[in-house]
Amino acid sequence: MTDRTGTDTADALSCTGLAYSFGGARAVDGVDLTVAPGEVFGLLGPNGAGKTTAIRAITTLLPVPAGMVQVFGLDVARERMAVRRLLGYVPQQLSADANLTGRENVELFARVYDVPRRERAPRIVQALEAVGLGDAADRMAGTYSGGMVRRLELAQALVSAPRLLILDEPTIGLDPIARTSVWDRLTEVRAATGMTVLVTTHYMDEADQYCDRLALMHRGRVRALGTPGRLKAELADRRARSGEADGPAPTLEDVFRHFAGSGLTDEQAGGEFRDVRNTRRTASRVG
Ligand SMILES: Nc1ncnc2c1ncn2[C@@H]1O[C@H](COP(=O)(O)OP(=O)(O)OP(=O)(O)O)[C@@H](O)[C@H]1O
Ligand SMILES: [Mg+2]
Repeated sequence: MTDRTGTDTADALSCTGLAYSFGGARAVDGVDLTVAPGEVFGLLGPNGAGKTTAIRAITTLLPVPAGMVQVFGLDVARERMAVRRLLGYVPQQLSADANLTGRENVELFARVYDVPRRERAPRIVQALEAVGLGDAADRMAGTYSGGMVRRLELAQALVSAPRLLILDEPTIGLDPIARTSVWDRLTEVRAATGMTVLVTTHYMDEADQYCDRLALMHRGRVRALGTPGRLKAELADRRARSGEADGPAPTLEDVFRHFAGSGLTDEQAGGEFRDVRNTRRTASRVG
């Protein structure tokens, strides 16, 4: 896929041997994957697996050498600004400002993403409406519930009309109704625009229901890749071959445990301090 104009022949995302180290520690250790245009692709894996690091490399926030990551045919190392124009990003850490209104928060992102001045006002209204925050647009974000904050962050990422939307744990810490609401909004926008979605989540039910394909990461590498149905069927086959076929059909949670649950040290089980701290911070309300 060498089309550098970012048109239909290119994959939405292609990673080839993607690697990144913090000091001597390899957080991402040779990831190969492609995401097709229009796909909803889920990146799964335990705390510390390297999901956020991979995403930060894809979004140009961490420097990687040329040849490792292409977005719609554009190399992130060589064409950083052009790639950024194609992307929307909802980070794992909170990105909404509690002391601004919903509308002001989205406006800030419209400026950062260089949405043309003339188009800004209608695009901001559109993004807020798309996530069901039209009526709350002029309230301070500090008064929003956790679910509203996550939808506001979705509006921030949508205001630039991205072709590839990247969401790092968009539903963490939300109640089941708020989670469904985030996914419903996302599904609607996707149906209307054909945008591609790359998402991380620790909720296996969401991965099963909403993702076309999944990659399961563990210790910096992709350990399993496929549709949710295929991953479950493969585990069922494995169990049958090893004579354990009698139990209930495997769930996605069983797949997760199979590839990520074994061989953890106490320190790694449940993630290192940094991982847990980040997760808690993300889950807490803005303000
Ligand atoms: N800024 C940093 N400096 C040093 N090490 C880091 C940094 N960010 C992440 N790491 C380490 O890199 C590894 C991968 O972390 P990463 O945040 O990518 O995992 P993750 O899969 O997103 O986990 P989680 O599910 O908890 O969000 C972990 O061992 C983590 O401690
Ligand atoms: Mg993460």
